[in-house]
Formats: sequence, C-alpha cells, structure tokens
Amino acid sequence: DASDIEKGTYPHYMLKEIDEQPLVMRKIIQKYQNDRGDLTIDQEIVDAMNDADRIYIIAAGTSYHAGLVGKQFIEKMAKVPVEVHISSEFGYNMPLLSEKPLFIFISQSGETADSRGVLVNVKEMGHKALTITNVQGSTLSREADYTLLLYAGPEIAVASTKAYTAQIAVLSILAEVTAKSRGIDLDFNLVQELGIVANAMEVLCDAKEEFEEISRKFLSTTRNAFFIGRGIDFYVGLEGALKLKEISYIQAEGFAGGELKHGTIALIENGTPVIALATQESVNLSIRGNVKEVVARGANPCIISMKGLETEEDSFIIPEVNGLLTPLISVIPLQLISYYAALHRECDVDKPRNLAKSVTVE
Ligand code: AGP
Repeated sequence: DASDIEKGTYPHYMLKEIDEQPLVMRKIIQKYQNDRGDLTIDQEIVDAMNDADRIYIIAAGTSYHAGLVGKQFIEKMAKVPVEVHISSEFGYNMPLLSEKPLFIFISQSGETADSRGVLVNVKEMGHKALTITNVQGSTLSREADYTLLLYAGPEIAVASTKAYTAQIAVLSILAEVTAKSRGIDLDFNLVQELGIVANAMEVLCDAKEEFEEISRKFLSTTRNAFFIGRGIDFYVGLEGALKLKEISYIQAEGFAGGELKHGTIALIENGTPVIALATQESVNLSIRGNVKEVVARGANPCIISMKGLETEEDSFIIPEVNGLLTPLISVIPLQLISYYAALHRECDVDKPRNLAKSVTVE
C-alpha cells in the first residue's frame, strides 16, 4: 500500500525518521540562511523576542522536552529569561506573568488541544504568541501571531524523533538571531556548529548495529530502566525515558543525577539498567560519581559519553559537538536503543498501544 512505498526499504517509519535527522538538520540550516550565509528569521519575530521581558514556552510531551533545551539556548545566548510549562498544567497553575510576556508554542503537529487551550487563553489576554511547528497552516500556527517552521517533513511514527531535533535546531537559531540583534557576541558560528552536528548525526545513524547490541544487553529482559544526566543531559534523559516507555512499554524514568540520593536510588536492584549521559564537561565528574553510586547497589550502567570526556567503562562515545548542542546528537542513541527494545519485544513500533500521533482532545 501507499504507506509501504513511503517507508521505502525501512521496516518502520520510526527508523526512517531517525535516519532522516542529518538531512533535516541541513535543510533547516539552508532554510534559515540568507544570501550572505547568515542565519535569519522574520524581523517581526526578532522584534517580538526583543520586546519581551520574559518568554513562556508551552508544549507537551517530546515538544516540552525540546522546550527545556530551548530555554537553555535562549537564556545562555540571548540572555532573555525563559519559563517552560506543560500545556495541560498551565491553565490551572498559571504563573504570575511578567509585564511583557511572549509565548512560544512548540508543537510538531500544531494540533495539540492542551496547547491550543493555552494559546486561546493568552491571546484573549492580549499577549503575543509564536508557534514553532512542523505543519504549515495547522491550528496553532494559524492562531498565533508568528510561526517558525521545522521543515522536518511528515512525521508518521507516533514516537517523535526528527521533530524533536528539528525543534531544538530551530530554537538554537531563534536564540542566535535574537542574541545577534541584541549585540551579544557568541564565541561560535552556529551555521558551522549545526553542520558539525549533521555530520555527527550521520555517524550515529551508521552505528545501528552497536545500538541494537546495547539495547539487547541492557534492555532485553528488564522491567524498568533509569536515565540520568545533569544539566542539559538531564533533559535528554527525560526524552530518552519517554521514548522507551511509549514504544517498548518498559517502565522508564529520567531524572537529574543529583536527585538519586533524594529517593530514586532506593529502586536500584541487581541488574537495573541505568543509562547515564556524560556530554557536559562541567558535570562530568559528578555524573560519573552517580554512576559509581548506582553500580555499588548492583545497577547495570550504560554510559553514553562525548568524545573528550570518555572513560574505558563507557558503552558508547558520541562525536564531539558544541557543548550547548549535544542534545541534538545524544538523543539519537536513546532513540535507537528504544527502537530496538520495542523491536525485540515485538511491540508495534510505529503505533504503540493507547497512543495517538496528535492529541486533539484535552
Ligand atoms: C512523542 O514521542 C509523543 N508521542 C508525544 O509526547 C508528543 O510529543 C506530544 O503529544 C506533543 O505533540 P505535538 O508536538 O504535536 O504538540
């Protein structure tokens, strides 16, 4: 049928979409570049970013996880304070808003009802909104003041992969362009850095056999799994845990390494898989300290580190990229490990039970 043709030689859309990530990166760079090769976005969006005294990112699921990374970009590069909220919670737990808020909605589909509920609300309050979406003309795009597109191509698998990395890339561009407009000098060239990311993504997509092996080793029989990280790695761990639960039905939890002692370490038993991300130089020693703590309680550690920070005990070393952009590549091992875990358990990879691609009811 038609879907088989679209899948080409791939057994699942998810695998195809994971593999498309280097291409999507290059497409995004190209779409957001001007004739001089500089990154650019609509001036009215830059103005809205500069008029705001605080940015509120609203999203659900994987898009929320991309928003957590986006907050780091916008605060570190453009120096504008950002809050990130789960859309379904925002209605009840609305924070005290700043005087000049700008709302950013992140949504692959542009149809998520919980996010739309917030958008309708804040528009009624007279606030400005920007939607970052993969679907031109989607509800969230039409109802917001501005739109930035992801250019990721249709994402069919319920588990979001290429939309997540596209969202993070577009957020990095938004942060960079805003920073430049504010006269902030960055010590790197984002076009170049994203190009390095695209190449690194290719290396990871070519290492599927290794990830299948890692998945077999750590996840084949387990009932649960933990993802730990510090700083930006923590956010990627949250996304890794979500991927794993939604398609393999393994109970998974992502948390900040420093939180172990505050509760979760009680769950570690003999053989419990703990997937640790170590891509951040500033916290490398602390996360490795956490690994030692869980190993002492019998955990089976799977360390994914970045080149330059690696040790002999690591299961996989990702290529080196700019320290802020590591989520774009450290997530790929987690996507692939989840994919193979689901495959080995004979789960319906593209259409996991109980889930819909876009959640259009509140
Ligand atoms: C991701 O793998 C999920 N299936 C889900 O969390 C998704 O990211 C969420 O429903 C938000 O969707 P959206 O990006 O289309 O708004």
